[in-house]
Amino acid sequence: MPEDSPTPDPLTGPSSEPVPPSPRSSNVLDPTWRPSTVAVAAGRPEHRPDAPLNMPIVMASTYVAGGDLEYGRYGNPTWTAFEDALGALEGGRCLSFASGLAAVATVLDLVGNDALVVAPQHAYNGTVMQLGDLESRGRLRTKLVDVTDTEAVVAACADAALVWLESPTNPALEIADIATIREAAHAAGAYVVVDNTFATPLLQKPLEDDVDLVVHSATKYLSGHSDVLMGAVVTRDEELYAVLKGRRDLLGAVPGTLEAWLALRGLRTLHLRVERSQANARELVRRLSGHAAVGEVRYPGFGGIVSIVLAQGALAADLLTHKTKLWVHATSLGGVESTFERRRRWRTEPVTIPDGLVRLSVGIEDVDDLWADLERALDDLR
Ligand SMILES: Cc1ncc(COP(=O)(O)O)c(C=O)c1O
Repeated sequence: MPEDSPTPDPLTGPSSEPVPPSPRSSNVLDPTWRPSTVAVAAGRPEHRPDAPLNMPIVMASTYVAGGDLEYGRYGNPTWTAFEDALGALEGGRCLSFASGLAAVATVLDLVGNDALVVAPQHAYNGTVMQLGDLESRGRLRTKLVDVTDTEAVVAACADAALVWLESPTNPALEIADIATIREAAHAAGAYVVVDNTFATPLLQKPLEDDVDLVVHSATKYLSGHSDVLMGAVVTRDEELYAVLKGRRDLLGAVPGTLEAWLALRGLRTLHLRVERSQANARELVRRLSGHAAVGEVRYPGFGGIVSIVLAQGALAADLLTHKTKLWVHATSLGGVESTFERRRRWRTEPVTIPDGLVRLSVGIEDVDDLWADLERALDDLR
């Protein structure tokens, strides 16, 4: 579509005609390679003399006419390199977006007017807020469910057009039975989407469970250094890919080129970072469970996010987040540095999340230093 072509009718939506493949970074992956190798090797230029090892930052708003790209909103070789790498890790075809919520919005736009979307009541609050906003404007209907109650979720699938899953949820760390819910949703003709931000493709590959779409806030573990805002969608369904690509072209929620480059650079060490933060998290869970100031420790058994509920409630939680030297009081998660926050400090967080819940994003520092800092602050609360 040329840059100045008339805007398609928003009611009929974008064309779902297959689009030509976006340009691929051209090194060939061996299908036997394991995820750590894929994270390092995917999305690189072809191995030939004097080729750069890394895809350069291609700053271009337009391209010489006649190829696949044509214009900067339709594609960029640096995005493609990131998309090839994440696509290879998730096992599908990837589209990158300006942020995780831009990816969420584009996926939610797949459903028709007045369609029903089923979603976890404790999905990331930005996702729940988007659903609430769309519902309040009459665009779609939503049913929020306890995602751990598989029977209730399966029952809710009956009338759904799209079933949104997030597993583990942010910050309650609840786990969904993805395979069972996917089966019920598909039987009802609904799309199934999994927000895989917390698990990453290293710990969970929902496309292998036959879900239709995987969504990421690439801002978190994929980029991993708290310096990038980016999102992504991955699918094996070429038709869905084409519709989503059409919507991205049209709505323009595209990533910055520098962001895509940084995200790909971050992805190169994803396996090392996830391994270390998970090991640190497991050890901290063990130590936190014995501390008198901690009423409850929530941990799904994998990943680098731990939620604790302070025995003395919200005030103690707020005090804790101001008493540490190494742990940084900050929102967001998935960076190399350990951060934490009391989630209910956000007025948008549901009241079913305990007031004294502190979400810890465990980084890759030395676990004894992390514990010493946290223990000192927790001891001070008593
Ligand atoms: C699970 C989850 N999904 C989506 C998002 C939204 O991503 P972004 O902040 O990149 O828009 C977040 C952000 O915290 C998240 O935690």
